[in-house]
Parts: sequence; structure tokens; C-alpha cells
Amino acid sequence: MKAAVFERFGQPSEVLRVAEVPNPTPGPGQVLVRMRYSPINPSDLLTVQGAYGRLPPLPATPGYEGMGIVERSGGGLLGWRVLGRRVAVLNGVGGNWAEKVVIPARQAVPIPDEIPDEQAAAFFVNPATALVLAEKVLRIPRGEWLLQTAAGSALGRMMIRLGKRLGFRTLNVVRRSETAQELFQLGADAVVDTSREVLPQRVGELTNGKGVRFAIDAVGGQTASEVVRCLAPGGRLIVYGTLAMEPMQLDQRLLIAGSKRIEGFWLSDWVRAQGPLTMLRLFGRIFQLMREKILTTEIGEVYALDQVTEAVGKAAEPGRKGKVLLTLGSE
Ligand SMILES: NC(=O)c1ccc[n+]([C@@H]2O[C@H](COP(=O)([O-])OP(=O)(O)OC[C@H]3O[C@@H](n4cnc5c(N)ncnc54)[C@H](OP(=O)(O)O)[C@@H]3O)[C@@H](O)[C@H]2O)c1
Repeated sequence: MKAAVFERFGQPSEVLRVAEVPNPTPGPGQVLVRMRYSPINPSDLLTVQGAYGRLPPLPATPGYEGMGIVERSGGGLLGWRVLGRRVAVLNGVGGNWAEKVVIPARQAVPIPDEIPDEQAAAFFVNPATALVLAEKVLRIPRGEWLLQTAAGSALGRMMIRLGKRLGFRTLNVVRRSETAQELFQLGADAVVDTSREVLPQRVGELTNGKGVRFAIDAVGGQTASEVVRCLAPGGRLIVYGTLAMEPMQLDQRLLIAGSKRIEGFWLSDWVRAQGPLTMLRLFGRIFQLMREKILTTEIGEVYALDQVTEAVGKAAEPGRKGKVLLTLGSE
């Protein structure tokens, strides 16, 4: 079968190639999935660059999520239950950018019929992170502001729709004016365009000088440093991404006065700490919010596996529209 493979860490468009690799065989408790689609997420690109929180032994195949059809079971009740079904493929170790993949049967999540393949391919990483951050980590009360950076991202757009659904207001930070217009159309309560506006000043105007009690940052660098200046007394900033690949600079007096907090969030860590029931409930809730078109992903260009070099180049392009998908099989 074919898979995207990298033998050394480096720029994805330079180190990834498509190779013939042996077909994987499922063992007990595992299933073999014939893949259909997998998205190109920032975590995939960071892994290939050697800059992610967990790195695979080399050579490796990227791809933490995606969808396909369960073709074989290696034995066990769970595998038998999902045999022949359309599933989301949650793959914590990576490897989904291949025609076939073997995963534990419990990580093959059956997809309701009304969810299209392309949406199912991006079922977990961003939807779960948006929902867990809003409802379980920050527990944002109705009427409160949530400030978010990289608000034009797939996850940021979900958060805007989630805010409308759950009753919190979103204050969205973007770096280009075209994105600002799009986000207002999605229901953003406020948008700050850092190419034209000074973030702490604008947040001061929007909140009558109070600042925000809830903020999430996926950018780092100067943007994150400015977000710290926007926090109200008792405010919390969750850092969950590193898009600028630059560290934030912190005058710690900003945290001391007003007892503010900065915390990290990684979905992998959160998932590891949950029991099966919580996970089942989470899957059900995500599917429900996908049906309501809240946790949906704007899909951009779709590339065949053979075009993986072009696909990762596109995914890394500033101002790209929608999530780039890889299509991994013909049916
Ligand atoms: N911690 C976790 O468990 C977890 C889970 C899921 C996602 N994440 C993180 O969430 C973030 C969003 O993921 P996604 O899949 O939704 O991303 P995405 O759809 O690929 O969008 C990326 C967005 O980031 C913006 N961006 C890129 N570099 C930037 C920079 N230097 N400064 C400001 N904005 C920048 C882009 O803006 P332009 O349109 O202007 O180019 C684009 O809107 C990523 O950092 C990802 O790693 C973390």
C-alpha cells in the first residue's frame, strides 16, 4: 500500500514522500481501516518538523485524525462491532496519511449517517478542543467575553459558533482584515485586527477598561504577550498552540497584580485523564453539535496522497481558505 513517509525531521514539503510500505495487520483488539480522508492540521506539520510535544520513531507516517471504513478486525468484541462501518480514526501515535492503518478498535468511532465524510475526517482534534476548553476547562459563563487569537482558524470559527450557542461573547484576534469580515458574518461579537489595531487598547475600549477574564492563545510570541495585558483581575489565559513559533515575553508583574494565571492545554493529556464514559458522551455531543453546524470545519482544497508535497505546502500558506484534506483511496 501507499503511505506518506518521512525519514528525517524537517520542512514537510522537503522531507515527505509517498512510498510503498507493507500492509499492516491488526492484532487482537485492533482493527484495520481503509482510509478515505485525513486533514492536514498544525499538529501534523509540527510533528514532521520535529517540533511537536511527542515525536515518533523514524521513519514515520503523519496523520492524527481522519476517517475510513473498517475492513478487518484482529479479534475482540469492539472490533466486531465496528467491522464494515464508516468510522472516525483517532490515532494518537500518527500514521493516518496512508491507504490503510491499524488502530485500537476503541479509537474507531462510528460516524452517524448524516455526517459527510469530509466533516467526519476532522471530527475530533479541533471540535473536542473547542468544546472542552469552553465547557470543561474555562467553563465560560453566559454573557462573558472569551478573547481568542488565531480566530480565523478552523478551531477559532468553531469557537465563535459555540459562543453563540452557549451564550458567551467572542472577542476575536486576527492578523488580516479579510478574516475580520468573514468572522463577523459567522457571528463574532468583536474582531481586533492586529495589522491595524493595538490589541490591549481595543480590548480596553470593548470592555470599559475591565479586560477579559477568559482568553485562549494559539499564536505565542508578541500576540500572546499582548493578550496577557488584556486580562482582567483573576483572568485566565490558556495557551494551546504555537503558530508563530516564538516565545511570549512576560513581565510577571502583570500576573502578580490581579492574581492572573497562564495555563497550558493539550487535548492528548486531557483525553488520557478521562474514562470511557466521558469519552462516549463527548463523541455524542460533538456529533450533535456537528449536526447543528456548530463544530463543523470549512473544507478547503482536497489533494490525492500522491500530491502530499503540494498539500502540505498549501496547508502552510498564510491566508489559506479552509482546511486542506488528503484523499487516501478511491472509495
Ligand atoms: N493544544 C491542543 O490540544 C490543540 C488541539 C487542537 C488544535 N490546537 C492548535 O489550535 C490552533 C488552530 O488549529 P487549526 O487546525 O484550527 O488551524 P488552521 O485552521 O490551520 O488555521 C491556522 C490559523 O492560524 C493563523 N496563523 C498562523 N500563523 C499565525 C501567526 N504567526 N500569527 C497569527 N495568526 C497565525 C492563520 O491565519 P491566516 O488566515 O491569517 O493565515 C489561520 O487562521 C493550532 O495552533 C493548533 O496547533 C491545539
